[in-house]
Amino acid sequence: MTSDGLVATAQALVGGGRGLLAIDESVPTCNTRFADAGIDQTEETRRRYRELLITTPHLAECISGVILHDETIRQGKRDGTSFLQVLADAGIIPGIKVDTGARPLALHPSEMVTEGLDGLRGRLQEYSALGARFAKWRAVFPVGVRSPTACGVEANAHALGRYAALCQEANLVPVIEPEVLMTGTHTMARCGEITRHVLCSVFEQMHRQGVRLDGLVLKVNMVLPGLDSPPAEPVTMQEVADATLACLLEMVPPAVAGIVFLSGGQSCERASARLNALNRQTAFARARIPWSLGFSYARAIQQPALHIWGGLEANVGAAQQAVSHRAACNRAALRGDYDAAMEQPGYGTPGSVRVKQQAH
Ligand code: 13P
Repeated sequence: MTSDGLVATAQALVGGGRGLLAIDESVPTCNTRFADAGIDQTEETRRRYRELLITTPHLAECISGVILHDETIRQGKRDGTSFLQVLADAGIIPGIKVDTGARPLALHPSEMVTEGLDGLRGRLQEYSALGARFAKWRAVFPVGVRSPTACGVEANAHALGRYAALCQEANLVPVIEPEVLMTGTHTMARCGEITRHVLCSVFEQMHRQGVRLDGLVLKVNMVLPGLDSPPAEPVTMQEVADATLACLLEMVPPAVAGIVFLSGGQSCERASARLNALNRQTAFARARIPWSLGFSYARAIQQPALHIWGGLEANVGAAQQAVSHRAACNRAALRGDYDAAMEQPGYGTPGSVRVKQQAH
């Protein structure tokens, strides 16, 4: 792939009114979610679950790319067809999570640094040869009274720059994911302040390390109050959209191919409604936004399906309908067409959502 190929892949991921589905949970994270849902935690149950997600009928109508995990990219359907082949046949671009997780940052209590740079060049070559066309690296920033510190922000931003440069060298589009965590009692204003600091440092590193901005995708948190912040002043969808947009317009260069949001622990409905508010701007605001604002959700697409499935073959069809429904709600939100009525019983079939959208 040439550098023009990188740009084309980045555009294919974020353009065309579709979003990303993240199914790249590490083995321990996937097992924790399975345990919470009462599902056996084995390689085979993880494979069956990923088969359910990847083979959801009509997935490609709403999903442009799927982020896989190292275990999943090597797996396939029960009939032996590889997941990569299934995605290729459906017209969905395969991606791969390549960081090896966040670990405590030395001498900085409660801060984390994401690891995985050692040997990354070789792993990227292998993933590219397998068929991956983009990659993901997540840096996490827990919010404390005095954290994140400048050191924590710089360590993660530098690693994101190293990762992104290695990806582009290997002709893989880097999805760079700095995530200010929702856990905590912080205000929305503090989340905005930290997100600005993080994005400033991240894009400084992209520039210093020569990363091509039109060949990368930013995956970022919305600007939100902490999950345990006092309930006295609930924020509206519009306030979240305004605070998030103000932050992004200030900190993200216009050349970036596109921005996608993570769900980060929001409910499915809120993740859709807030994305909708972000895309339902006045014509004046819209004219100032240089990127598409999309989604790259894991929990906010998967969570209902996981619980419906419960590890039982008999529930696969119903679970896939739940995946379709959430994917369709988020696709509607990309156009500002999401409506809370879509969450009503009877509105959940993929067909009914499609009809509603065509009416707009
Ligand atoms: P959530 O949407 O569940 O936050 O996950 C997104 C993701 O890919 C985390 O790295």
